[in-house]
Amino acid sequence: MSKERTFSIVKPDAVLAGKTGAIVQHLTDGGLKPIAMKLVHLSQEQAKGFYHVHRERPFFGDLVKFMTSGPCLVQVLEGENAIAKNRELMGATDSKKAAAGTIRQKFGTDIERNAAHGSDAPETAKYEIGFFFSGAELAALGVTP
Ligand code: CMP
Repeated sequence: MSKERTFSIVKPDAVLAGKTGAIVQHLTDGGLKPIAMKLVHLSQEQAKGFYHVHRERPFFGDLVKFMTSGPCLVQVLEGENAIAKNRELMGATDSKKAAAGTIRQKFGTDIERNAAHGSDAPETAKYEIGFFFSGAELAALGVTP
């Protein structure tokens, strides 16, 4: 077991439904502590850039439209095995297939409107944290590299 950081998004469906607090509580109860967070309304460029690995996929346009439809909560989570733990707490990508009691099952609707995003690997976590939080912002919060 090792302390790790990961990146998390509470997506526009969950923010607009007033579920931000419940999702943060779920993550915290699961052992993940938010050490940086902010609400952001993604621009087209930000959404396209963040999800650039999916740019050739048929769902890319809809994904960008959804992710720019309202504010998101972006956050850095810290805890033991944070990357795997966050993915376990979120459940399967498709909310319809996510296990009972997981964030995506409780707060999402389907594979697109799935309430939350979490990094899938250490390199991705580093990239995604840096995509939304500058070194200066993190340092101001006491989050050191
Ligand atoms: P996320 O974890 O944010 O990473 C990429 C997102 O693309 C994923 O959650 C889903 O919301 C979305 N996604 C993945 N596969 C599909 C699909 N087949 N149809 C629609 N959206 C998808």
